[in-house]
Amino acid sequence: MASLADELVISPLASALPFGATVTGLTAAQLEQPGIRRQLNDLWIERGVLLFREGESSQAFHLALSRCFGALEAHPFPESRQEGFPDLVKIKFYPGDGSYYDVGGELRGGWLPWHSDLIYTHRINRGGILRPVQLPASGGETGFIDRIAAYERLPAQLRDRIEGLHVVYHVDVDMSLQGFAGAGPAQLLRMAASGTQIQRRKFSYPRVIHPMVYTQAETGRKVLNISPAFAIGVYEDGTAAGDMLLRELVAICTDAEFSYFHRWQADDMVLWDNWRTLHCATGVPIDQTRVMERTTIAGDYALGRRLGLDGPDADFDV
Ligand SMILES: [Fe+2]
Repeated sequence: MASLADELVISPLASALPFGATVTGLTAAQLEQPGIRRQLNDLWIERGVLLFREGESSQAFHLALSRCFGALEAHPFPESRQEGFPDLVKIKFYPGDGSYYDVGGELRGGWLPWHSDLIYTHRINRGGILRPVQLPASGGETGFIDRIAAYERLPAQLRDRIEGLHVVYHVDVDMSLQGFAGAGPAQLLRMAASGTQIQRRKFSYPRVIHPMVYTQAETGRKVLNISPAFAIGVYEDGTAAGDMLLRELVAICTDAEFSYFHRWQADDMVLWDNWRTLHCATGVPIDQTRVMERTTIAGDYALGRRLGLDGPDADFDV
């Protein structure tokens, strides 16, 4: 017979959202149980974003929980890794270091527009879990939006038009240069020391392409597979018409009405499906510090390709 310890306490992430769930009070003992791990995996695939709240929360638990969903991998940029912990990405903003921007007249430290992690590589990671280390007194929210729901919002004629098309992506850590991010005018006022190192070598990374639409293997649901940040155009149409199509898709995909912005509490952890959702960081006032750690859950949906002068690097019908 099931005891309380065998059962997950699950509730909606927010009312009227087509994605997300909250798991309350998860313990290390529960995590040992194969049945619980299966349930968590099923819930993740079904809902896309899981908030873990009022449960165990430590660096060790963060890593153990992440490994329930797959093997972990190190971030491709050494500058992004947490010292001594290659499986953790350190996301940080300090008054003395960190990128900040003027976004529509407001100064925001660590601001990041809507994106999918590692979309600028041909093997995008399966997911990640974010955990706060030091929270600011204000700001520092993380936004999430669901791209299965976004695909379902597309008019039929647009769905037909994008079938078989691809988006081109390239590394650029200057978020003010993201032409498709749709955040309005943003100006970089200071780049983080780590970002400067990555930016110096950005042309050594190849451009990649990913299909605009892909099907979630476990459920057969289609995903509007675009990331506004890091996108540089439509592979099959580099004209203004292609750019206009991508802007139209971004506007539908990132419609604020369907987003969720997480206000962090100290013991929270949030897991997201990086193949299905977008996330963003609102940033913090530039006199505040925010430090987060993120795991990178490995995987390969096998649809991304590197671009060379001769086209995609693999036998791939574009
Ligand atoms: Fe991210």
